[in-house]
Amino acid sequence: MKKELCKTGIAGLDKMLKGGLPKGSISTISGPTGSGKSTLALQFLVNGAQKYGETGLYVAIEESQELIYRHMDYTGWNIEQLERSKQLLFLDYPAHEVDQFRSQNNAIGELVETMGITRIVIDSIMPIALLFSDEDERKRGFLEIISNMRKWKATSLIVAEESPTPSSTLPRTNYGIEALSDGWIHLNYRIGKKEDRKRGIEVLKMKGSNHVMKRFPLEMTNSGINVKVK
Ligand SMILES: Nc1ncnc2c1ncn2[C@@H]1O[C@H](COP(=O)(O)OP(=O)(O)OP(=O)(O)O)[C@@H](O)[C@H]1O
Ligand SMILES: [Mg+2]
Repeated sequence: MKKELCKTGIAGLDKMLKGGLPKGSISTISGPTGSGKSTLALQFLVNGAQKYGETGLYVAIEESQELIYRHMDYTGWNIEQLERSKQLLFLDYPAHEVDQFRSQNNAIGELVETMGITRIVIDSIMPIALLFSDEDERKRGFLEIISNMRKWKATSLIVAEESPTPSSTLPRTNYGIEALSDGWIHLNYRIGKKEDRKRGIEVLKMKGSNHVMKRFPLEMTNSGINVKVK
């Protein structure tokens, strides 16, 4: 049976994924601060709405919707218009209301169903992770969130910060969400020959997909993220 794929609309990334994300999968987007995680996640929703007629939901936990609007203004994506036409929805959970993301699970599920949402972004998991006092509890909490998200059946991205582990062959996010999600896309930096910082992107895991195992250059441009796959 041929698997259905959900194109990110970022041409190079779709090539790395051999067509796109498996439909209905949940993937972690990790990377150090400023590496482009939120940009990639929002671009996935904007492309979904503009190119593929899919409705997207952005759950803004770390950065408020207002800040996202301000920070992404340079891209000319016209987020406001997409929101007005209900192709893109935002849910804002400020720091002191983060626990409501979990308690409102049924209400979010209803929203997903009634609005026909097929793409979801959670940005980021870090404030949710901080709700738990020990690792076992956190893991149980994450498993519950992921099993609830599965019921929503949307193709989803969970943004997570990287914790620095320079000696390891694999990067690691601060709270290990990547081990529980179906896919894992990692953004990073390296220092080029001229001491310039080069951005990169790598697919580290995508269950059920024969994705490319190689790091590719990533650029941030006025139209968002561009991945150069030769
Ligand atoms: N006009 C622009 N052109 C190119 N790059 C830009 C432009 N504006 C911002 N950037 C880059 O985007 C970066 C921020 O990207 P983004 O918010 O997606 O990162 P992030 O990984 O989500 O960071 P954080 O972990 O702090 O949330 C900035 O640090 C800057 O390098
Ligand atoms: Mg961010």
